[in-house]
Amino acid sequence: MAPLAQQSYAPKKFDLSGLKGISDNTLQVHFGLYEGYVKNTNLLNDQLAEQVKAGKAAGADPHFAELTRRLGFECNGMVLHEYYFENMTKNAGAAPSSAFGEAVAATHGDFDTWKKDFSAIGGMRGVGWAIAYYNPRAGRVSNHWITLHEVGNIAGFVPLLVMDVWEHAFLLDYKPAERSKYIESFFANVDWAVVQQRLGAAKGR
Ligand SMILES: [Fe+2]
Repeated sequence: MAPLAQQSYAPKKFDLSGLKGISDNTLQVHFGLYEGYVKNTNLLNDQLAEQVKAGKAAGADPHFAELTRRLGFECNGMVLHEYYFENMTKNAGAAPSSAFGEAVAATHGDFDTWKKDFSAIGGMRGVGWAIAYYNPRAGRVSNHWITLHEVGNIAGFVPLLVMDVWEHAFLLDYKPAERSKYIESFFANVDWAVVQQRLGAAKGR
């Protein structure tokens, strides 16, 4: 049997200093947490490859099962943070593209109604993510709640706009009950050009 290919991810760097309403201090802490997900994803992949090599890949083995379950958490923690940091910019100001506006108008009637829905999902109790996905089968955009990092993602759907609503994303800048203020700050920093690129790529698949 061919040996499993070892995957190793390098943490990405994000130049976001100077966002509106999200402090550099918050960003520094958040980058550190993100790098922890990259490290743990690499570690889990290595440990799982060793288990396979040692013939210990067995569903009834609790150690193997626990490592496997953790992979979804750590790997999605890495990937979703990359989407999140990449869809913000310190030079925000541009309006959402007309293509994105039309896409959300098709499902919600207009952009403001879509935004209200997305923000309401972000304000749900618990920690997780609000994500606007493109559904390639239906050709539509829909908003979803993701618990932790891995529960609620839909296979094949393409993330267009990703917002972290774990408390570490805003607690240094806002009180726990002020999540809505953080959500407004997030929207003030959205890089709509990135969202448009993601939409265009998703439609072209
Ligand atoms: Fe986070």
